[in-house]
Amino acid sequence: MDKFLVRGGVPLEGEIPVSGAKNSALPTLAACLLTPEAVTLRRIPDVRDVRTMLHLLQLNGAQAERREDGSVCVTAAEISRPEAPYEVVKTMRASSLVLGPLLARTGRARVSLPGGCAIGARPINLHIAGLEQLGATLRQVHGYIEAEAPQGLRGALIHFDRITVTGTEDLLMAAVLAEGETVLENAAREPEVADLAALLVKMGAQIQGAGTSTIRIRGVSRLHGADHTIIPDRIEAGTFLIAGAITSGDLLVTGCNPDHLAALIAKLRQAGVEVRRAGNGRLRVRGRGRLTAVDVVTEEYPGFATDLQAQFMALMTQADGISFITETIFENRFMHALELVRMGASIRVVGRQAIVAGPRPLSGAQVIASDLRASASLVLAGLVASGETVIDRVYHIDRGYERIEEKLAAVGAQIRRLV
Ligand code: EPU
Repeated sequence: MDKFLVRGGVPLEGEIPVSGAKNSALPTLAACLLTPEAVTLRRIPDVRDVRTMLHLLQLNGAQAERREDGSVCVTAAEISRPEAPYEVVKTMRASSLVLGPLLARTGRARVSLPGGCAIGARPINLHIAGLEQLGATLRQVHGYIEAEAPQGLRGALIHFDRITVTGTEDLLMAAVLAEGETVLENAAREPEVADLAALLVKMGAQIQGAGTSTIRIRGVSRLHGADHTIIPDRIEAGTFLIAGAITSGDLLVTGCNPDHLAALIAKLRQAGVEVRRAGNGRLRVRGRGRLTAVDVVTEEYPGFATDLQAQFMALMTQADGISFITETIFENRFMHALELVRMGASIRVVGRQAIVAGPRPLSGAQVIASDLRASASLVLAGLVASGETVIDRVYHIDRGYERIEEKLAAVGAQIRRLV
């Protein structure tokens, strides 16, 4: 199993590029199942979750290939096996994103139920309830959801009991080929949902309101091929901003969309970090040494992203004062806190809140990555710790960050992969 070896204490300086968004790549790849024609998606990051999704599309009968220029071309001329098997779903929960498209395209789908995971329960009850409202029949058999809609799906008014990102995406993909109008209420407003809708519109779908909490879809009988460049990864960009801040560095984060990072930027500024727009999708971050503790509460977009909570906690270990970090999206997303404590941080977890007292000098240790964003937080802690940090199970970080060690090393970090 690969590990990272990090030697801390070097301020990061220079330009660091952002890849395409993993969480846009996954739904837009699933959307390729909705048409028999070829879809080209550009800026698709070469990360493990994307490879898993490409494998899943191939299992479904699609041709899916990555080209030299980073684009991916998918042609689902025929769907021979409308299924997401357990072996795939257990490594990537977002596999349930194929449920809506498979059902809409073929009238049936068989998708393994995701189990628990390191960050908490990841149920898909809201995906299921929504598809039932679109007229599908779903039953649970041997750990799988078996869905059928032999007469096709019919538009409906769907009100989500709670906001779900992939649930909104799944229902959006089902509704574009349903007969009549569908309205999704209390929909997720994440930029990745709007990006998926932008692709679907290029494919011939009729969608209004994506990016707001009410999305209206008028079903069409057929979608066609398209060419689409996905949005930059706001979580990767946010991780790099925090890397600049925590190392008291001076980084230019390029190829990002600053508008998608407003909540993080506001918190960084409150903490005393200088973040400036440097034109054309670029943000300059300068750590000025002394940081002030600030509180954060994770929320759905446009609130502070749960996917940046672990990284921000690493930063707060270096801030002066007490920071209250409240996680409202997932119930068990504090596994990194215990590892940060092993590196010298003072963090107490009480229910959904972590109380971080700082600043505390961190010292390198052997730590274990428990999930994707937790691993990023440990890398950040390693960058500021004295001595060597060895991070085990970096396959978690490879799920969602494209060559993070190479990107960080290029701006001065002392980090290398041990294989
Ligand atoms: N939920 C339900 N029922 C459902 C669906 C969700 O109760 O049917 C609950 C979940 O248990 C959770 C909350 O609703 O407590 C929000 O979950 P959501 O469905 O929004 O999460 P997701 O769609 O499974 C996506 C991202 C996650 C990100 C969350 C929240 C993708 C592929 N994944 O997950 O990204 O944390 O939204 O923003 O888009 C990551 O990239 O590291 C990652 C975990």
